[in-house]
Amino acid sequence: MDHSDTISTLFAKLWQPYAAVTPQAQSVQALLQQEGEELRNDHVAFRTYNRGPLPLTRLAEPFLKLGYQESGNYNFEKKRLDAVSYSHPSGEHPRVFISELRVQELSEQNQRLIDTLLARLPEGIDPEDALQAKIDWPQLPYEDYQSLQAESEYAAWLSAFGIRVNHFTVSVNALKGYPTLESLNQRLVDAGYRLNGGDAPIQGSAACGLEQSSTIADRVDWNFAGDSQKIPSCYYEFAKRYIRPGEKELYDGFVTQSADRIFESTDARHHRA
Ligand code: NI
Repeated sequence: MDHSDTISTLFAKLWQPYAAVTPQAQSVQALLQQEGEELRNDHVAFRTYNRGPLPLTRLAEPFLKLGYQESGNYNFEKKRLDAVSYSHPSGEHPRVFISELRVQELSEQNQRLIDTLLARLPEGIDPEDALQAKIDWPQLPYEDYQSLQAESEYAAWLSAFGIRVNHFTVSVNALKGYPTLESLNQRLVDAGYRLNGGDAPIQGSAACGLEQSSTIADRVDWNFAGDSQKIPSCYYEFAKRYIRPGEKELYDGFVTQSADRIFESTDARHHRA
């Protein structure tokens, strides 16, 4: 069965709650479209907890039903994450990267905060609704956000924003006017965007099959239980894929070391300097 239209519709729906908190993704998109580019997404990424009603395996279900297949498993030691990537065999749709935090590796206090939050989620959640940020995500007290942030930026982001796409990724391979990731990065910097990693924004290499860069996350006003605070939301990512030595197809997976650094794009530390 051909799920192509269903998949395109789903990605259009996934874009909405992401773009709502990521104004720069919309403006970068507009900038490239004005230059005549037709944008393709290399991948989207989701974050979740390994406990509660929406672990990685549940969030993957809607994609598996649409014909997606697992393309890799990853362990991020420092960030305490497990992740799985999925690709559609047609090659026509964005890859999906889902990671989950190993909550048991956090302090007892932060585990309790996360359990309290997860206990407030509505019962019988449809994972497809969760992916689209259609569920009523509980508001977190700001002190809890700060406590989580001290130990895991990932946990803080996820507890505040809930399940939604953490980043969309522009496929640089599909751009006509940008033969290299460097040329795109330069265009973005010239247009006033700030990239994660400053003078060395590119993670990965042609040899490992994947080069990536990302913007520093927008800071948005966000409602916590009782008050509103300005916190980093989501970033926009840019990926160029290569054929690895000895292989025939463009590399389809992800590189753990790069992603470990890219995850820092939403790190509040980048915004305090
Ligand atoms: Ni990514």
